[in-house]
Amino acid sequence: MSFISEINRRRTFGIISHPDAGKTTLTEKLLLFGGAIQEAGAVKSNKIKKGATSDFMEIERQRGISVATSVLAFEYNGIKINILDTPGHKDFAEDTFRTLTAVDSVIVVIDVAKGVEEQTEKLVEVCRMRNIPMIVFINKMDREGKDAFDLLDEIEQKLGLKVVPLSFPIGMGYDFKGIYNIWEKNINLFSGDSRKDIEETIEVSDLSSPELDKLVGKKAANTLREEIELVEGIYPQFSKEDYLNGKQQPVFFGSALNNFGVRELLDCFVEIAPKPRPKQSEERLVKPEEKQFSGFVFKIHANMDPNHRNRLAFIKIVSGEFKRNTPYLHVRQNKKLKFSSPNAFFAEKKEIVDISYPGDIVGLQDTGSFKIGDTLTEGEILNYKGVPSFSPEHFRYINNADPMKAKQLYKGIDQLMDEGVAQLFTLDFNGRKVIGTVGALQYEVIQYRLEHEYGAKCTYENLNVHKACWIKTENEKSEEYKEFIRVKQRYLARDKQNQLVFLADSMFSLQMSQQKYPSITFHMTSEFE
Ligand code: G4P
Repeated sequence: MSFISEINRRRTFGIISHPDAGKTTLTEKLLLFGGAIQEAGAVKSNKIKKGATSDFMEIERQRGISVATSVLAFEYNGIKINILDTPGHKDFAEDTFRTLTAVDSVIVVIDVAKGVEEQTEKLVEVCRMRNIPMIVFINKMDREGKDAFDLLDEIEQKLGLKVVPLSFPIGMGYDFKGIYNIWEKNINLFSGDSRKDIEETIEVSDLSSPELDKLVGKKAANTLREEIELVEGIYPQFSKEDYLNGKQQPVFFGSALNNFGVRELLDCFVEIAPKPRPKQSEERLVKPEEKQFSGFVFKIHANMDPNHRNRLAFIKIVSGEFKRNTPYLHVRQNKKLKFSSPNAFFAEKKEIVDISYPGDIVGLQDTGSFKIGDTLTEGEILNYKGVPSFSPEHFRYINNADPMKAKQLYKGIDQLMDEGVAQLFTLDFNGRKVIGTVGALQYEVIQYRLEHEYGAKCTYENLNVHKACWIKTENEKSEEYKEFIRVKQRYLARDKQNQLVFLADSMFSLQMSQQKYPSITFHMTSEFE
């Protein structure tokens, strides 16, 4: 197969949802369709169960699972599908944000009863900001839930999406009879007796046919006819172009657990979802079809074996072919590296591969030379954009609890930060180190890993910070800027890239500063123009 055909047949995407909406179940059913797994239950949930905060073994176990499910690849009708795992737990949201830099599209799973939930809102916002094409899957139609039109409204309002239903439910919960597929113009009936069986659906191709009344009853048939008329009246026609530009989001209904509505979703997905897309680097736009290889690190996973500090760096291939045993330029370090055993990922295993294509993810063994956002090329200086840090939610001083192990502690902190576990800030006025995280769980993980992987001990001390803002000014010599630096001295810190950060202790103090120093911009993420 030619290089171009290999690119054209790849679809790399992520499934995002609030925990429990059914992401794991849907992933599993997709894999079943691809023949990548033989039975249900093969995909492990990477959910961090409630109460895991104090259970280190559980955290470790979860880390192991999340290596296994980081990338799931399978083939369906000649299309190579790469699903990138995105942790739903909010304490790992940052990991998910970064993974979203490596996907070409997403599927958003929403629980029909719960509607739009907190994590869905945050993740969709990130996708919207980046114009990532999204398909919405409304799950658990076998349960009582919200009215379809109400839910579509809620999605539009809370998520700011422009929805286009491509399927529509016939009843729900106890009365769930099936789905009218607007996209394929046919009906799949849900047979309540054998809810677990894929084969139990019957197809009807015409909505106006009296056959429909026989199958679902006169009342349900009429309701459906009315609803479809309404759908056609309210919502715009599906436009592939608008979907690809992030201006329109197709919606499917179904029940992942019952494998109902999943095939429709998958068939539409492989048809409309984008092939690997060009990516903006700081230097220029890079197209997948370019001959020269380039890629970037979006995730780093520490080894499960505490005696070996080997890590696995996940690289998304942006352009060209990635070949085994070929020297590539590590742009940040300006050195050539060769990889003898790059891993490709399949549903249940990983394998060493000789060659990978744009859209693919390869896992590279790393002993500490990579950090998130690093770029590999054949020699060109490229730095991929779009792996920003967000302001953490929690802040604590980190102290060394074993003076004999200071070196180990700093090395450990350094490497964990490169993995993206948390962010490190060093206060300007006294050099103290502050760890910022998205969730409280990370502090436990860091403490545990520092001890078990680096032999270092730490303690934390609370620090009252509301938000970290990255500071930018046009004129560092202005009196206003100088005054800001002087007055806020105790609240200024440097991040790992040595960028200046203002640790505002309250919303009020942040707003006051914004008012008082209008020539200074306070950015909520580390990456800005
Ligand atoms: P997540 O990865 O998004 O967190 O969700 P997951 O797939 O683990 O699903 C969460 C729960 O919802 C699971 O039940 C799962 O069986 C159930 N579920 C998923 N899809 C459907 C559906 O279409 N209909 C119904 N009724 N339930 C669905 P659980 O009891 O938490 O887990 P388990 O013990 O069944 O594994």
